[in-house]
Amino acid sequence: MDRRQFLFLAGGGLWGCAANLPVRGRLEGRVVQVELGELGATIAAQGYALVQAEGLSQPLLIHQEGEGGYLALSAACTHLGCQVRPARQALVCPCHGSSFSWEGEVLRGPAQQPLPRYRAAARGGVLEITID
Ligand code: FES
Repeated sequence: MDRRQFLFLAGGGLWGCAANLPVRGRLEGRVVQVELGELGATIAAQGYALVQAEGLSQPLLIHQEGEGGYLALSAACTHLGCQVRPARQALVCPCHGSSFSWEGEVLRGPAQQPLPRYRAAARGGVLEITID
């Protein structure tokens, strides 16, 4: 069991519990800004964070990658757009059963395309995620 799996289980990986409330971000142009303090606490508690911002149609799913790096994925399934849900080993779509790796690659269809990945960079206490 890796760290993310442990945190998922320890943090109450049940979708819909209070721990899964999205972190608020602010969309300015094509950049979503998120305070690193709240984001880091959420990721430390459950292994990932969902970020929602006014103007975004679906939340972003953020988790840590390497030392101090962050990976930002769209949480919208590339089949028909349902929101994927973190599970132990993968991100799972509740609509038709597609699953994706935590890096966004398709593990099982019907989705054919990976989850879009976005550049994420920490600057001055804020994570900036550029939506291309
Ligand atoms: S919308 Fe996700 S599998 Fe269909």
